[in-house]
Formats: sequence, structure tokens, C-alpha cells
Amino acid sequence: MASHLRLGVNIDHVATIRNARGGDHPDPVRAAEIVAAVGGDGITAHLREDRRHIRDSDLHRIMESTDLPLNLEMAATEEMLQIALDHIPHAACIVPEKREERTTEGGLDAAGQHNHLAPIVGQLGEAGIRVSLFIEPHARQIEAAIHLKAPVVEFHTGRYAHLLLDGDNEGAQAELRRISDAAALAAKNGIEPHAGHGLTFENVQPIAAIPQLAELNIGHYLVGEAIFIGLEESIRKMRALMDEAR
Ligand code: PXP
Repeated sequence: MASHLRLGVNIDHVATIRNARGGDHPDPVRAAEIVAAVGGDGITAHLREDRRHIRDSDLHRIMESTDLPLNLEMAATEEMLQIALDHIPHAACIVPEKREERTTEGGLDAAGQHNHLAPIVGQLGEAGIRVSLFIEPHARQIEAAIHLKAPVVEFHTGRYAHLLLDGDNEGAQAELRRISDAAALAAKNGIEPHAGHGLTFENVQPIAAIPQLAELNIGHYLVGEAIFIGLEESIRKMRALMDEAR
């Protein structure tokens, strides 16, 4: 079992609210400082190609403002590669990105995109950035991550979350087993498994109980709950649920 299940807090949607008015408030940097103060393990931020939430200038400010590791979520493009190499975040999680989607709707096809991904994974790794691939919990994708020599994979938990929302408990249990088997397969092959997307107070515990998982990245729900109970309390409560599930 990974000893401590890390919680990476995705602060994108603090920036979404800021950008709704185009000004500087609320500042995602202030959110990053709160994550650090309340014992979060890392900051996750997705610089999307359309800059709908995090802006280029946020990255440097986030890195300056806390000692927490920054996990930069990025599309596998030349522009994002250059930005990652200019900033050298602790980690970079390569995600598929479509402009028209509301959020990252599925995992990266690491298997089908090997030739496109290999030089990007290689250059990030050479720069000392810990590369993660955001994939579906399928053996074929893990095999692709092994070939790409990615040290980390993050399993997309969106399907599990949606099945639960739809009341399909059987389907959700089957997806949970897939995530659990995938985490075991990754760990057996020396890849550190993470998970994230769509996690909430209600659905996090069965995921947090998967022993090989080393990190969860959670954003939208934590920021949404913060409206009602504050960001500190939102993170504290998620942390407590994760600890209870281990
Ligand atoms: N992990 C990855 C790779 C993501 O793309 C996202 C969404 O940006 C998350 C985790 C967090 O998902 P959510 O905001 O649904 O918690």
C-alpha cells in the first residue's frame, strides 16, 4: 500500500470564477496558499489551450507562492511543452484536450498516440519533470505507458462517478474493479498510479481504499463545496474521508 494517499487540489475553477468577470478576484494563488496551509499535498492546474481558467501568468505566481509541488495538466502540444519547459513544475500530467468539451471527458489514447507522445514524454522527463499520463483504467493503456517510460499514470474516474450519479451501482462497481485492477497492474510494473476526475465526498472512499493509489487529484467538487463551507473545510473534510477509507 502506498503509505500516504496524497491529495492534489485542482484550483482551476477558482480561476473560472475570476475569469467570469475578467478581473483578478478570486485569485487562484490565494487558493493555493490555503491548500498549503490546510495540509494539501500538491496544487494541480490545467492550462487549457483556450485559457478558459488558468492563465499563463498564474503558473509562475502559483509556484512562487507555496512550496507545494505543482502538477501541471497539459495537452500534448508544442506550445504546452514549451510552457512546461519554461516553468519546470514538479509534475506534468498529459491530458487529451478538445476545445469544445466542458471538461476532460476521457483518457488519453496513449496506445494510439505513442509516436506523438514519445518525444514529449522524453523531453519533460529529461527536464526533471515527473510525467503522468491521464488514461482510462485499461491494460492496453498501461502497457503503452510502460513503453513510453512514464513514471506515473492517473486513472480517469469520471466514468465511475457518472455511473453512480445515474444510479447504476452495478456498473459503478464494475468500473471500480477496473480501476483497482489497473492500479495493481501499474504498480506491479513500477508505475505510480494516481486517480481523479468527478470525485466527491460521496464517491471518494471506494477509490481512496484502493491500496496502490498514491495520489488523488480533485478540483471541481472541492471548489464548489467551498462556496458553502469554505475552502479550508472542504479540503479538510475530503482529507478526513480519504484517511478513513485507507
Ligand atoms: N485529474 C485530471 C487529469 C483532470 O483533468 C482533472 C480535471 O481538470 C482532475 C483530475 C480534477 O477533476 P475534477 O475537477 O472533476 O475533480
